[in-house]
Amino acid sequence: MERKKEILELKEKKKAIILAHNYQISEIQEIADFVGDSLELAKKASELKNFKVIIFCGVKFMAETAKILSPEKKVIIPEIDAGCPLADMADYKSVIEMKKKYPDAWVISYVNTNADVKAITDVCCTSGNAEKVVRNVPAKKIIFLPDKNLSWYVKQKVPEKEIIPWNGYCYVHKKFKVEEVKRAKEKYSDAEIIVHPECDPEIQQLADGIYSTSGMLKKVKISNSKRFIIGTEEGLIYRLKKENPEKEFYSLGFPKICYDMKKITLEKVKRALKEEKYEIILEEEIIEKARKSLERMLQYV
Ligand code: 13P
Ligand code: SF4
Repeated sequence: MERKKEILELKEKKKAIILAHNYQISEIQEIADFVGDSLELAKKASELKNFKVIIFCGVKFMAETAKILSPEKKVIIPEIDAGCPLADMADYKSVIEMKKKYPDAWVISYVNTNADVKAITDVCCTSGNAEKVVRNVPAKKIIFLPDKNLSWYVKQKVPEKEIIPWNGYCYVHKKFKVEEVKRAKEKYSDAEIIVHPECDPEIQQLADGIYSTSGMLKKVKISNSKRFIIGTEEGLIYRLKKENPEKEFYSLGFPKICYDMKKITLEKVKRALKEEKYEIILEEEIIEKARKSLERMLQYV
């Protein structure tokens, strides 16, 4: 309780705002000013006016996105080692090679990419708007980075576009297995199964719906179902339960954890506010170039 109070006081003193992703531990979600999916957090970062400091509770590519969209602010990530292995699967050099191979293709990068890759991207997307972005870009051929499952999902929705997928994947969503879906269907026959598009195609095909994390929150609110089986990182279930106390939520199989997301703790948030550790620093040229691809995405939202 004391620590929470201390954090709130420090936040006030520093004119800081705390943004948190839906996968953060419950204590972090509780002290955050805003909790959301990657798209909502990117939009929020681009709109912030009255704050000098953003404490970003999520993984590094998300904090970088906030810095790119709000370069005049100090963006602090409480744990510098909170990365995203999926983002690291598309490296700058290999993306340049791919661009050379397909010179007439547009590069669409999932926001789960590092800043240097965003800088050589035509337009970014998130799981919440990937379909819309791919449908609307003025190109027929698209290099889609880095998640092959999200690119499979998009291809089902926009079959008229030629999509060249990258071979990346999220190790957390990869853990969902067909057996788990079958067992869940047997055990809770009245439940809706909703999964993230980072899950394998076989899982997506068996599910009742495919959504980004905040897309799941919206779906649950408007659905008449009383029970839901959730196919994404476990942290989302805290918010689902909190906002829908009359409904029931179950993990699809055993709980799947993103260990990088869980590296942020209240103690580290306090340190981030006190010592301004760790500040996201990016080269100006990278910020300029990457901002274009993110701003283009925000036009399509
Ligand atoms: P959302 O954009 O759905 O929040 O997903 C981000 C992410 O990292 C999923 O693993
Ligand atoms: Fe990256 Fe997967 Fe963790 Fe999302 S859940 S941050 S894609 S490793």
